[in-house]
Amino acid sequence: MKETIKDFDVYHKNNKQIMKFGYFDDKNREYVITNPQTPWPWINYLGNEDFFSLISNTAGGYSFYKDAKFRRLTRYRYNNVPMDSGGRYFYINDEGTIWSPGWKPCKTPLDSYECRHGMNYTTIQGEKNGVIAKTLFFVPLKTWAEVQKLTLTNKSSAVKKLTIFSFVEWAMWNAATDMENFQRNFSTGEVEIEGSVIYHKTEYRERRNHYAYYSVNVPVKGFDTDRETFFGLYNGFDEPQVVTEGKPTNTIAHGWSPIASHCIEVELQPGEEKNLVFMLGYVENAGDKKWESKDIINKTKAKKCIELFDTAAKVDIAFAGLRSYWDNLLSVYTLDSGDEKLDRMVNIWNQYQCMITFCFSRSASYFESGIGRGMGFRDSNQDLIGFVHQIPERARERIIDIASTQFPDGGCYHQYQPLTKKGNNEIGQGFNDDPMWLIFGTTSYIKETGDFSILNEAVPYDNKPGTEVTLFRHLTVSFNHVVNNLGPHGLPLIGRADWNDCLNLNCFSYDPNESFQTTENKSEGSKAESLMIAGLFVVYGRAYVELCLRIGNTKEASSAQKHIDTMIEAIKTHGWDGEWFLRAYDYFGNKIGSNENEEGKIFIESNGWCTMAGIGKEEGLCEKALNSVKERLECEHGIVLNNPAFTKYYIEYGEISSYPPGYKENAGIFCHNNPWIMIGETIIGRGRQAWEYYRKICPAYLEEVSDLHKTEPYVYSQMIAGKDAFKPGEAKNSWLTGTASWNFYTITQFILGVQPEYDGLRIDPCIPDDWKGFKVTRKYRGATYHIEVQNPAGISKGVKEVIVDGKPQTSNLIPLSGNGLEHAVTVVLG
Ligand code: BGC
Ligand code: NOJ
Repeated sequence: MKETIKDFDVYHKNNKQIMKFGYFDDKNREYVITNPQTPWPWINYLGNEDFFSLISNTAGGYSFYKDAKFRRLTRYRYNNVPMDSGGRYFYINDEGTIWSPGWKPCKTPLDSYECRHGMNYTTIQGEKNGVIAKTLFFVPLKTWAEVQKLTLTNKSSAVKKLTIFSFVEWAMWNAATDMENFQRNFSTGEVEIEGSVIYHKTEYRERRNHYAYYSVNVPVKGFDTDRETFFGLYNGFDEPQVVTEGKPTNTIAHGWSPIASHCIEVELQPGEEKNLVFMLGYVENAGDKKWESKDIINKTKAKKCIELFDTAAKVDIAFAGLRSYWDNLLSVYTLDSGDEKLDRMVNIWNQYQCMITFCFSRSASYFESGIGRGMGFRDSNQDLIGFVHQIPERARERIIDIASTQFPDGGCYHQYQPLTKKGNNEIGQGFNDDPMWLIFGTTSYIKETGDFSILNEAVPYDNKPGTEVTLFRHLTVSFNHVVNNLGPHGLPLIGRADWNDCLNLNCFSYDPNESFQTTENKSEGSKAESLMIAGLFVVYGRAYVELCLRIGNTKEASSAQKHIDTMIEAIKTHGWDGEWFLRAYDYFGNKIGSNENEEGKIFIESNGWCTMAGIGKEEGLCEKALNSVKERLECEHGIVLNNPAFTKYYIEYGEISSYPPGYKENAGIFCHNNPWIMIGETIIGRGRQAWEYYRKICPAYLEEVSDLHKTEPYVYSQMIAGKDAFKPGEAKNSWLTGTASWNFYTITQFILGVQPEYDGLRIDPCIPDDWKGFKVTRKYRGATYHIEVQNPAGISKGVKEVIVDGKPQTSNLIPLSGNGLEHAVTVVLG
């Protein structure tokens, strides 16, 4: 990619701050990639409600409707060679020179390349021999389609005669069977073509009432829908025969692998620019409206949608709509800290990632295949907290959906499918931390909105009509689930696993064909208890008590409080190891995460939760535990999960010990749980330490080491390899991780300290003592607060003075005004 390097030099000369692969353009809220050969595909997400696409910096990726497993529109080849195979590709045949604007798949060297990933849109621009091809990809608001605007500009002094080929490959809807059941799939494929629209209607004849389409807004020279004809036998994506020959062959696919490719001839005068608008869409028809005539599908809805975006001008208006939608979402919490990296995370990328994790849970990324998991019970509750201020109504709906997968005893399905919203039987239930997260999700929602009415919503158990109880009752059974499942030390039984899915204390698997995630070979008589759930129970148990008091249920509040007090005692008596909190007791009742253990002496999770709960703070336990974390778990790249790492397989611990040391749950830096320690640090007032931990794993600060870090510098990854790893500092599993919401929650509510409460905003920062201050603008319950925090005394924590609209206050809780006005808030630490 010599040409790209040239481009890179140009940026340097212009004195722009540019790293090896790109740079942040904060004004436009974009990450600009200037070298297509990123260490790993750097991707983005299009769509934020029903229709979604994943798109890489070279236009790889795929689209689906609502559910990446059940409604996969286009095919993608995970873990392929070359990397990132399959996408929406444009091929340009410029009188024999064939190239793609995104460099891939042709890999013809470009004269320049630039990809801009923005808020739910991506542009990819390539230039070759005087032609600039710029593609804009986005899903317009409230639309079931991906719009692709291709703008071609002739910069040369000669007339250009280009032949353009589009390309997508259809998936057979169910992404799992699409990859397995070839004996069937190769016989089912059906398409229909009308004008410039290619319809994919496989299985529409029988039980499906949905189809997909790929259109372009100009007449075509021809098309292709048979894959092998388009590519030629034994060719790859980089060398389609039809493109090389410059002529479409108008194939109609019957079975095998249907694709959609348009061929368009474009002539450009010197200086001329032309736009083509492609649309990849999805339609559902009611059972009695499926057909226009025998075998001819009803295209009314598709045509209607195509018409909405059939000119560049219409597309531009829709695009402006998407941009202003994001202006609005990102205006709820804005920070001016004077540190551009921190500001870009808080104001743009961290919030954006929270929206994405809210939409997808852990289902579809370049590390999650979209067929493995639906929405996680614990995951979605946690994702909510980073998103609830953006669109509270959607958070509300999600809470009800999640709660509907609970059982009457408070246990719950670990996952559910977004399309059906039904619990996922394959994984089932029995993860004993799950119920408590519902209290976190719900109380966070109410604190943001003041909407107590959600507590009275009728919500079923296991989605069974007739079983409805109030949402508040669901919270009660959540709380009781812990109380009713205590082990020999009065600590919570762990069940299949707690937050750490790999601490499988009842699994006991010798058989490599068993999944650690779904197998439980022992549990009768199990003594396996979790200190992580114990801390979690104290933190969200208190939130439950606070809520009960709010709604006047004092009896429940005091009975719940007793259970919490008992739990605190149990933790102090049976959960303290001398220098830190124990992690768990195993099946036999032996300690895990104790100095007595040979490996796994100390773990992050229990020390996070018990310090967040402030357990033994007065006696100095929190400080001791956090000091031990620093001493034993911190490393250059973050805080590892446990230490020493497990170096052999422990059948009584399960999957955790199956990972090589330093990776994933076995002493990897599992970024999701680092914030628990950061919050713990803020509880004891150590702002500098909290901040240092924050900065260590924060992507914007890692941009310089992208070569090592590998994943996108604009979003968090689930894991960074820890100090015991073969390659410490290398990240994996970007995008879909609870890391997004936990870091947002931590920086905004505990470090910057702007916390929504039932009665207003509490301002209680915990910052490095050398920070002079910062400004936050927060829209909250119908008013806008311009908060300026000043730190003249150079301290970390403690509010001395609060002034609202010129009036001194008696507390750091800014009362609600709800009057639609702007308020000036000055907070002086001291
Ligand atoms: C991973 C965990 C994950 C679990 C469930 C395990 O293999 O290590 O991080 O939570 O699978 O998908
Ligand atoms: C990823 C899973 O999505 C999450 O539920 C779990 O808590 C973590 N891994 C830790 O195992």
